[in-house]
Amino acid sequence: MTEGPAGDLVGRARSGPQLRAAEPANPALPIGRVDAAAAQTQPTGLDELDRVLGGGLVPGAVVLLAGEPGVGKSTLLLAAGARAAASGRVLYVTGEESAAQVRLRADRIGAVSDSLYLAAETDLAAVLGHIQAVDPTLLIVDSVQTISMAGVDGVPGGVTQVREITAALTALAKRRTLTTVLVGHVTKDGSVAGPRTLEHLVDVVLTFDGDPRGQLRMVRALKNRFGPTDEFGCFELAEDGMAGLPDPSGLFLSERHDPVPGTCVTVTLEGRRPLLAEVQTLVCPTAGELPPRRVVSGLDSARVGMMLAVLQRRADLQLGKRDVYAASVGGVRLTEPSVDLAVGLAVASAMADISVPLDLVAFGEVGLAGEIRRVAGVQRRIAEAERLGFRRAIIPAGSVPAHDGRPAGVRRLADVRAVRQAAGPLEVTAVSDMRAAIVAALGRSVSDADVPG
Ligand SMILES: Nc1ncnc2c1ncn2[C@@H]1O[C@H](COP(=O)(O)OP(=O)(O)O)[C@@H](O)[C@H]1O
Ligand SMILES: [Mg+2]
Repeated sequence: MTEGPAGDLVGRARSGPQLRAAEPANPALPIGRVDAAAAQTQPTGLDELDRVLGGGLVPGAVVLLAGEPGVGKSTLLLAAGARAAASGRVLYVTGEESAAQVRLRADRIGAVSDSLYLAAETDLAAVLGHIQAVDPTLLIVDSVQTISMAGVDGVPGGVTQVREITAALTALAKRRTLTTVLVGHVTKDGSVAGPRTLEHLVDVVLTFDGDPRGQLRMVRALKNRFGPTDEFGCFELAEDGMAGLPDPSGLFLSERHDPVPGTCVTVTLEGRRPLLAEVQTLVCPTAGELPPRRVVSGLDSARVGMMLAVLQRRADLQLGKRDVYAASVGGVRLTEPSVDLAVGLAVASAMADISVPLDLVAFGEVGLAGEIRRVAGVQRRIAEAERLGFRRAIIPAGSVPAHDGRPAGVRRLADVRAVRQAAGPLEVTAVSDMRAAIVAALGRSVSDADVPG
């Protein structure tokens, strides 16, 4: 950098385009004079959404909300838009539905506000016109796939169009400090022209999912330039809109009062939030000469497959001629390795036809040698199990138990079955391998010789 005058810096390359210095729009400032307030988050008013966003929307940020059709993206954003309209003008551009349809939804969910502007538009130039006319502080585009841009190749919703439109709106967002939320559809088959191609163009990528047959919806951050990505927000899709669920634990447990063999409750850590969830399994003899079936839902099928191999080789469970079905309860997706132990215990319980006690939770990663590995957040997991009335926990050896003098009889959710009376600290059993875990949960070991049927 010391050789020659500054002009030479760019002029030295003999070929290629000539580059000249331009007048910058904003001069560089000493960092101490830069105003950090401009990047402070603005809460949307939907607590569960704010939790995922790391407090709220950063002015000028571009957020992509991706989800399958019908999951509730429009409902969520209309609600968020109406809340945000309390502190500034909001422009909601709908390219999918007519303005009247959106108005109907707004009536249904209570999202009518004088500062919430609605435009049914599919042409980007016209959208820009609306932005100029309304001068909003928040722009919602529902969806980016329905907007088209003149002079760009491809059909609306095609990769080229979607990318160009996102790039144009992102540039505008930065220029005007216009917070922008884009809806992106993903299709079940891995999203053609989907939001994945847009991830690097935007600041925040949120995914919105849930079992379409159920009411539960979850928002997660896949990418967040301004905050953590390990949070999730939980909503219930009701007749009158999205209701935040600040306390989702207990939703993923079945409503049984009697123990059933083949099930085991675990505590996963979704971001920083511990979540109780139940693993259910069914093991039955494989018919005839068919290969054994492995059907997995809501769990990581590769990890379940690994657990079955570990059970077979390290705990003498003969699963070679048996069909195994494994699922989570309530449509929750359990992919954290700490779920391994509950899967293993559920399968062992199903094989032996002995129930895991109703008041027991188990968590831990299981290694290929059958060893139980430590997981993060042991204290938080145990505290949550205790809060929901569980009395026993099987955890990895070497984890620190959580008895730190918390008051007994902690708050209990009304919908957690009465069988589980919260009455003090739970009893923790630390185990170092799968065999020991099975004995701790079922009261005895399980080998092929004593498996019924
Ligand atoms: N009138 C209504 N009453 C109750 N629920 C409705 C009504 N209309 C639509 N819904 C539900 O709201 C859900 C979310 O719809 P929507 O927000 O449009 O999803 P997305 O924008 O992700 O496609 C739909 O699955 C639908 O079942
Ligand atoms: Mg929609």
